[in-house]
Amino acid sequence: MYPVTRTSARLALRELVVDDVDALSAVYGSAEATRYLSFEPRTREQTGLVVARSMVAAVAEPRTEYALAVRERAGDGPLVGFARLALGGQRAGQIGFALRPDRWGRGYGTELVGALLDFGFDGLGLHRIWAARAPDNAASRAVLTRSGMTEEGRIRHHVHVRGAWRDSVIHSRLAHDPPPT
Ligand SMILES: CC(C)(COP(=O)(O)OP(=O)(O)OC[C@H]1O[C@@H](n2cnc3c(N)ncnc32)[C@H](O)[C@@H]1OP(=O)(O)O)[C@@H](O)C(=O)NCCC(=O)NCCS
Repeated sequence: MYPVTRTSARLALRELVVDDVDALSAVYGSAEATRYLSFEPRTREQTGLVVARSMVAAVAEPRTEYALAVRERAGDGPLVGFARLALGGQRAGQIGFALRPDRWGRGYGTELVGALLDFGFDGLGLHRIWAARAPDNAASRAVLTRSGMTEEGRIRHHVHVRGAWRDSVIHSRLAHDPPPT
């Protein structure tokens, strides 16, 4: 599916473009935003490569990766984060997401995960959507739980980052799970 556009109450998701590199660096290059992610802050050049790879993956057939820019719908609609849904296995997809730190605490994270789940289940017909978070990532835990994603276990030494192995806690939601209350 290309191009993908999705909206929630305050956010809009769209395909990445070359001009997004600087704005995306406020997320990918931020020590605060990447603290619990599986990679260290990226340089502008590295962010540029991610955008380029994502643009190529976006037009692959079949498409297995949806790396999307997240922008605010209000005002000039600045880019405030990124969202990713990667297909794998049988009708399954993994989501990842991050927002600019100056936008945290407004409910955007919950809104964004809701939009990704809608896209995966309704747009792509997936059966299972899952996410992996750092055990200490309390904000992610709150967002995933509130989005109806059940905590289902821990993968030991899932990623090697910042010079050490790190476990991940897995959350998932199935297509037929009841909506979050
Ligand atoms: C995770 C993230 C997207 C959340 O975005 P957000 O817009 O702040 O999310 P929301 O406002 O919808 O909800 C955040 C919740 O986390 C809670 N929270 C934030 N920091 C917390 C902490 N240190 N301890 C406990 N709870 C915390 C907030 O209180 C809020 O819950 P509440 O509404 O019940 O009070 C954002 O923090 C982020 O981009 N982090 C960096 C990238 C990342 O960790 N991505 C997830 C990868 S799995």
